[in-house]
Amino acid sequence: MTLQSLDIDNLNSLNNCPKPPESLLQTNRNELDIKLDITKSGAQELPTDLQGHVFVVAPVGTAESGGLPHASGDSFMCGDGMVYRLDFNQPGEVSLKTRIVKTADYYADIASAGNEKYAKYQFNNHGMLRFSSALGSRNPLSVAFLPVKFAPDDQERLLITYDGGRQYEIDTETLELATPVGSNKEWRGEVNVKFPFPAVLSTAHPAFDACQGEMFTINYGRSLENFMNLPHISVIDKFWKKLHQHFPHEHRKEELLEDFLYLVRWDGEQPLERWKLVLSDGSSVRIKQSVHQIGLSKDYIVIIDTFFNTGLEQTINNPLPERENLAEKIREKANLAPTPETYVYIVPRAALQQGQRPALDEAEVEVTVTQTKLPPELTHFLVDYDNPQDKVTIHAVHASSWYASEWIRNYDHSVYEKDRHIDSHLHGMLPSVMDVSRLGRYTVNGKTGELVEQKKIPDAFDPNIKSCRLTWGVTLYAYRDRLPSSDNPAMPTSTIDNVYWTSVGLWGDLLTEFVHNYYENLNRKQPFHQPLVHPDEVIDLGKTGMPSSLFRIETKSMAIADSYEFPPGVIGISPQFMPRENSNSSTDGYIICTVHCGESATESHQIWIFEADKLHEGAKWKLTHPDLTFGFTLHTAWLSQVAPRQAKYNISVEEDYQDLVADKPKLKEFFEQEIYPHF
Ligand SMILES: [Fe+2]
Repeated sequence: MTLQSLDIDNLNSLNNCPKPPESLLQTNRNELDIKLDITKSGAQELPTDLQGHVFVVAPVGTAESGGLPHASGDSFMCGDGMVYRLDFNQPGEVSLKTRIVKTADYYADIASAGNEKYAKYQFNNHGMLRFSSALGSRNPLSVAFLPVKFAPDDQERLLITYDGGRQYEIDTETLELATPVGSNKEWRGEVNVKFPFPAVLSTAHPAFDACQGEMFTINYGRSLENFMNLPHISVIDKFWKKLHQHFPHEHRKEELLEDFLYLVRWDGEQPLERWKLVLSDGSSVRIKQSVHQIGLSKDYIVIIDTFFNTGLEQTINNPLPERENLAEKIREKANLAPTPETYVYIVPRAALQQGQRPALDEAEVEVTVTQTKLPPELTHFLVDYDNPQDKVTIHAVHASSWYASEWIRNYDHSVYEKDRHIDSHLHGMLPSVMDVSRLGRYTVNGKTGELVEQKKIPDAFDPNIKSCRLTWGVTLYAYRDRLPSSDNPAMPTSTIDNVYWTSVGLWGDLLTEFVHNYYENLNRKQPFHQPLVHPDEVIDLGKTGMPSSLFRIETKSMAIADSYEFPPGVIGISPQFMPRENSNSSTDGYIICTVHCGESATESHQIWIFEADKLHEGAKWKLTHPDLTFGFTLHTAWLSQVAPRQAKYNISVEEDYQDLVADKPKLKEFFEQEIYPHF
């Protein structure tokens, strides 16, 4: 059945597109230990070479909301991270373990929510950020993972991440939180305010190099000038005044925010080491959007200013929660525009000699970066480990006209019926993509920043061409990220020859009047913004929709080599490559993904497994359970083994926070009574 054939359901409707699955934002916070039911396609048993453990993370709302959706219509991205671990270590069986990630700020949120005694500490949703003007920012660890295995480690370890906070390590066996990566003293907050839970800007995708035994992450801040680009400075002023009620002796507003970017290195055992990154003229690198992802090659670290937003800038979405309707007025002037070009900063690893160890009060060390530019609206990217003749290859997606920091509000209207609100079960979801996404391969000279070669697909839109149907809302990726090696299962793949992507598709019910008008205006005002599809044409296409898909791009030819379109009304997300034992190619394995099946399915939340070299044949196995729910899942990881954590590295929670609460007796008592006993 084609998407178009569904039109007969309602010829008079302005939007005959299949309905997006209601399950997209329907999830609870129950922690599970269950065996999943396996549905086979044909007679095939679950293969014995389907092995290891797949981790998926997704935001699951807050203690207040009790799951998703948020009754308030807040972004699904705002909420605690839930880890889902699928175990394939028993023949013919798949078990599932799920746990919410519980940081110190999680316990502060739980203790203060709805508790009059701690009213002044309570957290509120501010866009994607959950923030307390007295305590600071939540770090929900809800976005991605990074498997690491340093030289002394006998087993792989797993980090869990969020853009607006430091990384943490979890125990792969119990899924309990083990330790933050770096103490509070080793991270610099976005603002010079002594919050107990500082807003720390980092990346959701730090990078690990198993060959050289190093993990890299970043820590950055943005100056007030970046905030000045935002509307409603008067509202921000009120917000800062509110902060000053809690922090009366802190700096003036202008001194609170500063541009800085540190590259941070960790060996898994010792304190963090960092370098302040500067341009060739000695000035600080200024991040204008965010650094959702970093990448590395043998000789270079690649840092990209990505089309996404995070951190305290999110407070602008809902600066004063007590003032109803303010958020709508602010959104009218929101800035969803990307920078005209994507700024890329390349750090030569040879320059990373002795860095600064903030834990040891060492002096700052600067390193000069090479700067280059790529086309705009870049979010996710991967980097080949090999960099012959200093040529660094970047595989990227440009999710054109699709701002991942935006969401459908409860006051949003359908673009088709302007007096009709978007259905309430979709409030909090990403709005519809307003252009076809593009995939690019770029080769940059790491020494000079020269863009040596580039190829981008599609280069024009034709709805009759398959690649143009598959690439609406391309979000999440999978690839064989490690080579099989008995010595070190974390050895990186030298070049990435295949990348698997999922796309969300185009859905009429997610097309809001706001995003249509926004991008129509942007196209008119900003010559740099050149979508392949005009917003008015997107409205026409949205009447029948474009499918959610899973496809493999062969990076050498930049051609879609294999693909699968999910059926109408079904969305697949969060792909993960699972290598077969002794797998010898990047298609020798399986692709597993989360799937929202819509109303027709008995179990609307499912896990599908494809053979990686036969995506077009569809999922061969489907995993379900009456208790299985998840919302819009995000990134994934695969580990061959899980085991109780052996690593000794540990930041004590009490030691980490005691200086931050020492001069406030009530706050100190709150931490002693409500937080420390959990650790
Ligand atoms: Fe990501």
